[in-house]
Amino acid sequence: MSLDKTGWRILDFKVIQDERGKLIALEGQKEIPFDVKRIYYIFDTSPNAERGFHAHKKLQQVAVCIHGSCTFVLDNGKNRSEVIMNTKDRGLYIEGIIWREMKDFSKDAVVIVFADEVYDESDYIKDYQSFISYVSRRC
Ligand code: TYD
Repeated sequence: MSLDKTGWRILDFKVIQDERGKLIALEGQKEIPFDVKRIYYIFDTSPNAERGFHAHKKLQQVAVCIHGSCTFVLDNGKNRSEVIMNTKDRGLYIEGIIWREMKDFSKDAVVIVFADEVYDESDYIKDYQSFISYVSRRC
């Protein structure tokens, strides 16, 4: 049985610049590696707020911190990484079952997220131990 792909990587977006300023264009199946079905954004975070604390069974997402900064914690059940997102020309692509947390939001942080599916509560794993069991069952 082949498993769904799982992992995360940084996407570097091309900045189109002229004398008027800068522009970044993101298209599905190009800069965003899937067809986008949903977009949401996070802003006005409370001081010391932490978000996420879940994994998705199937969802693909690209997160871009288009203003300010924040830190993503990414955990595949074996290794835990921290990625600081603080630039408009960089996206964080997350595919498959990765536990994710978000923290260290600057007051002005705006994080926009592109997803390949509409919101589906049944795609979430919200308990860390259940996530670990789910990952180990797949290996
Ligand atoms: P939540 O999953 O807690 O956000 P985060 O992953 O950033 O911690 O979502 C907060 C609320 O928003 C929750 O009631 C579900 C709802 N929500 C939607 O209705 N649609 C969406 O696309 C998302 C991401 C969340």
